[in-house]
Amino acid sequence: MATMNRKRVLTGIKPTGIPHLGNYLGAIRPAIELTRQHDSFLFIADLHALTITPDRAALRAQTHSVAATWLALGIDPDQTVFYRQSDVPEIPLLAWILSCVTPLGLLNRAHSYKDARAKDQTDDDINHGVFSYPVLMAADILALGADLVPVGKDQKQHLEITQEAARKFNLRYGGGEEILRVPEALIDERVMTIPGIDGQKMSKSYENTIPLFLEDKQIDKATKSIKTDSTPYGEPLVPETDTVFQLFSLLAESPDRVEALRSRYLTGRKDPTGSDAQENYFGWGDAKKALRDEIMAHFRAPRDIYARYMQNPDEIDRLLTRGAARARARAGDVLARVREAVGLPLNVCPSGIDPEVSA
Ligand code: TRP
Repeated sequence: MATMNRKRVLTGIKPTGIPHLGNYLGAIRPAIELTRQHDSFLFIADLHALTITPDRAALRAQTHSVAATWLALGIDPDQTVFYRQSDVPEIPLLAWILSCVTPLGLLNRAHSYKDARAKDQTDDDINHGVFSYPVLMAADILALGADLVPVGKDQKQHLEITQEAARKFNLRYGGGEEILRVPEALIDERVMTIPGIDGQKMSKSYENTIPLFLEDKQIDKATKSIKTDSTPYGEPLVPETDTVFQLFSLLAESPDRVEALRSRYLTGRKDPTGSDAQENYFGWGDAKKALRDEIMAHFRAPRDIYARYMQNPDEIDRLLTRGAARARARAGDVLARVREAVGLPLNVCPSGIDPEVSA
């Protein structure tokens, strides 16, 4: 039966601001695609967010906004186990246990910590959460017994640390037997640089992004402000190097529609087989309209769903809490094996509440 060897895929999302088109095309859309093909686990890494110590209102607001974003963009919370990291106490427990098998040297070499050091921060400025970030991430993955972890290239080293921690644990406590599943990283090696409105890589720090849930008018404005060359109206345009064309092709996916736009570019005509009359000219304004319409078609419905969730944060919490119960059932099994292996008692019921005490 196909379901018997379905792989378990898991990924974590840091709760930061509303994502832009670059995040969507580069990370969110492929991750949602994967959740449809596998048993999937997706969580909001709110404990990781504490390493940068946001204020409490911001942490809550961003957790809701990230959850609403993913729900709006197509995560199905019935199919995908969708939860908040901090609702699963098995994760930080496993993080501690893993700390005790993870070599300090490995963490000393971790980019997350080295980057903080490179910014001229001393060990007295850097919190220990930044240092042990990779161990918590390993626990996220190993507690749920994930097979596959889709991440960006920047997370490759964190996955290697995860694999190393799992192997060390298995060697130490299982005599090599796989108590903790050693996961595989699924790293998108395509160098997919999504251009922003100035043609450089789309990134918040360059202030060249197109945020996802804009009003129609703002989408119009954003697409109009995309930098193009100064080819005169009606002359052929070069698609390959053009930001408008690249964004359109990435979004549209359908090869026919991409080809149709390409021939308009190459001929400088709306109808490539039509007349040379000025009404049939195709220029940057038309290209930008095509992109604008494509963005609207993609994100209008999600924008409304996003707004609905944001007006109803209790609904988001309800979904995340339900997801956490499913995640805990799974993590509880893994932790029972881990506790048994290391010699910790098992006499704590999965909810952490002793039924004798609460009765
Ligand atoms: N560190 C990841 C990032 O910065 C987020 C993350 C936390 C994560 N835990 C994870 C990703 C577990 C994959 C698996 O994007």
